[in-house]
Parts: sequence; structure tokens; C-alpha cells
Amino acid sequence: MDRLIIKGKADLKGSIKIKGSKNSALPIMVSALLTRSPLKLKNLPKLDDIDNMSKLLRSYGANIKSKQDNLEIKCNNITNRDADYDIVRKMRASILILGPLLARFGKARISLPGGCAIGTRPIDIHLEGLKKLGANFSFENGYVVGAVEDELIGKHITLPFPSVGATENILMAASIAKGKTIIENAAREPEINDLAFALNKMGAKINVKNNGIIKIDGVNSLTQATHKIMSDRIVAGTFVIAAVMLNKKFEVKEIISSNLEALTSLLIKMGAKLKVKKTSIQIMPSKKLNGIKIQTAPYPGFPTDLQAQIMALMSLANGNSQIKENIFENRFMHVPELNRLGANIKVKKDIAFISGNRHLKGAQVMASDLRASVSLVLAALCAEGESVINRVYHLDRGYEKIEHTLGSLGPSIKREKY
Ligand code: UD1
Repeated sequence: MDRLIIKGKADLKGSIKIKGSKNSALPIMVSALLTRSPLKLKNLPKLDDIDNMSKLLRSYGANIKSKQDNLEIKCNNITNRDADYDIVRKMRASILILGPLLARFGKARISLPGGCAIGTRPIDIHLEGLKKLGANFSFENGYVVGAVEDELIGKHITLPFPSVGATENILMAASIAKGKTIIENAAREPEINDLAFALNKMGAKINVKNNGIIKIDGVNSLTQATHKIMSDRIVAGTFVIAAVMLNKKFEVKEIISSNLEALTSLLIKMGAKLKVKKTSIQIMPSKKLNGIKIQTAPYPGFPTDLQAQIMALMSLANGNSQIKENIFENRFMHVPELNRLGANIKVKKDIAFISGNRHLKGAQVMASDLRASVSLVLAALCAEGESVINRVYHLDRGYEKIEHTLGSLGPSIKREKY
């Protein structure tokens, strides 16, 4: 396994260009399963999750060519209909193949994604939605087995919760179902718009309203298309938080800043100095940051995927802060590790109470999940002395080799095997 050795009190200078979004790329890669024609994708991030998704699609017979940041996926010869447990176990987004396989082939057999470190993460909303379109499900030896008797037929579906993955699964299936589908209380995350944008280029007829209603007119088949993956708002937000924590002048570029409105307005309220432009955010040193009370919520609320990072920042603010986590029930595993670095955070059920004004000190810590890992990196950059972050494979799922991206901007970050 790899670990990172990070020198604290780090410098940070210049700017960073943000690459394509992982959470946008994964469902869009899966959407290639809906057609025999090639799907060309640009601006893909170099991440383990992207490689795993390629592996999963290849195991179904997809022909994937990759060149630099581009991928061409052709699914004209799909054979295997059993998703490999080993890949599904590593990546929950694997469940997204369910809708497309049922829509195009009428059957699918996928290993259940199982529990995940940040919560139980069931798939009931995915299954209920696909059932409404006409699929039936049974469970066999840890596999979910789906079948469609005749064909999927468009319906009016109201989600009990705006699940991102369930919205994507239903959206993909409905795009080639017969007739009209309406998804109410759909997720409004920008990644949904990017998926709909890509599907429409492939010939789908999807209308995403910004009130959580998606209307889909099913078409017979989809065709070839080229799509550039939108930039990663969570990686962008992580770099903005890093610059605010280190109190340096820095710029985060090639982003859609409106996708980060919940973060930028919060940081400005806390006292950070930001210049927000359409495609960039400039961070300037500020005199002081104040503690604040927030809660995570589906988009356009504060994203759960930036909760761990903002918590690290709150430890440095003046006064106390609170975070209520509303999306995942067990997403505070970074708390004991941040406390090892000198933070003082207490958790009661779904609320974290963060004492401010902490002087962080380097320590050995353990990464537990993707966003938790990066919050430890941020805290380690601000700490006094050296920190060692163990088990960084989680980090590699969502951040391109951070020792290069961040390491080239001032901080000293080394990777070593142990
Ligand atoms: C996606 C993102 C993830 C992000 C999350 C919330 C990807 C690849 N991952 O995950 O980074 O943290 O959105 O913004 O895009 N739930 C159910 N039943 C279901 C589906 C979900 O109870 O059938 C629950 C989950 O357990 C969780 C909550 O709903 O508590 C949110 O899950 P969901 O929006 O589906 O997140 P993901 O699509 O898994």
C-alpha cells in the first residue's frame, strides 16, 4: 500500500486547472451501453475509478480505446451479462449499468454493491424506479437479477429522495424506453445535467428542469456522439478550501463556478476573500475566518462530498462551528483522524461540533474514504511538522496523483510504499 508524507506549514502559489468530473464521467461512460455506436469522451480525469469503470465495461465486451484524456467506447458486441463482484465491490457506481442493460438487452445480473464505509447505501430507489418502467428483480447469492418481460415503458416516477445514482439509472433506462417518462423529485446535481447533455447529443430527448423534474421522451435507439466531461466541482472546491486554509493567493481555473455557489457563499460568510468569476475562483489572504453552522443537503445545498474538507477548515476558524450531515449516516470517520492532527471535534449522532482556533500538529493518520482522505491532506498541509497519511488508495479514486497536482504548487508531498 501507499502512504503520503506531507510537510506542514506548506506554501501554495499560482493556479490549478481543474480536469473532468469523476462523478460525471462514470455515468456517461456507462451510457455507452445504451447504443451500438461509439461514444467519444474528452477531458477524463486519470483516476482509479475511471480505470475500474473501463474494466467493468470491458468485462461486458465493450471495446474501449484510450488516448491521453480521451476515451472511445463502443458497445456493439456486448456478451457477458454478469457484473464482476471484485469491481462492483470497489465501486458503487457499478450499479449504474443496471438501467442501461435492462433497457437495451432486457436482462442484467449484478453483484450487490454491499455496504460501504460511509453508510449502508441501499439501492431500493434505483430498483423501485426501474420496476415502475417494467423491470422485475430477484436476488440470488448476492446478485440482483433484473429482467424485462417485453420492453420498458415510460411512466411517471416520484423519487422518495433525490438520489443521484437512482436518477441517473432511471434517466438512462428511460431514454430508450417506449413513451414518456417523468421523474419527479429527481436529483439536481450538475452531474445529472452533464449526463442528460451527453445523452441528448446521442439522440435522446431529455428535458431537465431546475426544479427537480426531468421529462424524457423515449427514442428507439441512440447514436454516436462526442462529449467533453464537465469540470470536477468537488476537486475544485477542495483546492479552494486548501487555499483558504493556507491563507494564500491562489486561483482555481477552468471550472463552472456557479456549481460551487453553496461553498463560495459559505466561505465568504466565514470571512474568506474570494473573487468569483464564471470559470475561475481567485482566493486572496484574509484577516480572519469565523466559525459557522451548516448542514449538508442535496444540490443546490452544501455537498456532502465537501463536508470533510470544510470541517478541517473549521478547526482553524475563530470560534466554534457545527456540521449536520444529512446525506450519509456514517460520514464522520475523518473525525478521530483530524483529532489526531490536533483538531477538537465531537460527534453526537449526525452533528459534528468543531472547536475553532486549533493549532494542528503533524501525526500519523489513516484515510478511511475518498473525501475523508483529502481532508487529512488539507489538515496536514496546515499542521506544524510532518504528517504521514496511510492507506491513500481511497484518495487515488478521486484525486489525480495529489503529490504531483498539489505538490507542484508549493507543498512538499512524497508518496512511498509500506
Ligand atoms: C453520488 C456521488 C457521491 C455523493 C452522493 C451524494 C457518484 C459516483 N457518487 O453517490 O460522491 O456523495 O451522490 O451527493 O456520483 N439511498 C438510498 N437508496 C437508494 C439510493 C440512495 O437509501 O436506492 C441513500 C444513500 O444511502 C445515501 C443517500 O441516499 O444515504 C444519497 O445517495 P445517492 O444520492 O444515491 O448517492 P450516490 O449516487 O451513491
